[in-house]
Amino acid sequence: MTGASGIIEIMGITIKSPSDIEGMRLACRLAAEVLDYLAPFVVAGVTTDRLDQLCHDYIVDVQGAIPAPLNYAPPGYKPYPKSICTSINQQVCHGIPSDRELKTGDIINCDITVIKNGWHGDTSRMFIVGEGSIAAKRLCSLTYEAMWRGIVKVRPGIKLGDIGHAIQTFVENQGLSVVREFCGHGIGRKFHEEPQVLHYGRPGTLETLVPGMCFTIEPMVNAGRREIKESGDGWTIVTKDRSLSAQWEHTILVTETGYEVLTLSAGSPALPAFMNAVAVPG
Ligand code: MF3
Ligand code: CO
Ligand code: CO
Repeated sequence: MTGASGIIEIMGITIKSPSDIEGMRLACRLAAEVLDYLAPFVVAGVTTDRLDQLCHDYIVDVQGAIPAPLNYAPPGYKPYPKSICTSINQQVCHGIPSDRELKTGDIINCDITVIKNGWHGDTSRMFIVGEGSIAAKRLCSLTYEAMWRGIVKVRPGIKLGDIGHAIQTFVENQGLSVVREFCGHGIGRKFHEEPQVLHYGRPGTLETLVPGMCFTIEPMVNAGRREIKESGDGWTIVTKDRSLSAQWEHTILVTETGYEVLTLSAGSPALPAFMNAVAVPG
């Protein structure tokens, strides 16, 4: 359906035109390239404020783009004060950069969203500072695989519940848990659009995917129980049992035949091993 605005949408989900998709491809590649740039700086002794400043300056001065989190204020939230999210150890998401120094063994999610020519690109990766524990490395790599277990389901005709179910069953079979309160999201001219992309669910339920939809898949996985709480700064979410939490995020386009991962870059980690056995869509 085309509304008065001329924007095509189905069930409140915007469908990107070929030129919209070009805009999304650029914004998403830039977001991924911020992570490539940032990676060598994520070392013991660096503060998360320094990581924030490095990303801010790279996005603004090198990419000519805008860091979407800065002053972002969804209903019920105070404006987000920094340009990136840095969530360490038991922090699940939305960690606010500060004067805290990273130390060996920390795990940190860096979540980057840039706006370029009005389009949003959103992606995050985990980094392990120095030598991580076996449990930390396992959590980060299984969460990466969980994201991809969801991505490979994406094609026209499947339902959002199919994605959530693939992620949830994989995670829970490993003895880990999926956070329920936060989810992936449609993305485009707005940071957070319809639909919500749950990382748990039942096959054959929820919205049907159509070519031109863009959304993120960004599972948050806890080593312990799935329950979370807000930490008191209005943004940072932590695990209730203080267990470690990990997250990875890509922005995905639904194509005629499958999916296109828009937030890939030269520094993106290798695909998980199970992908070698899965047909890559065109
Ligand atoms: N980038 C986050 C996401 O993946 C949202 C961060 S909102 C912020 O949806 F304000 F904390 F930046
Ligand atoms: Co997101
Ligand atoms: Co994000």
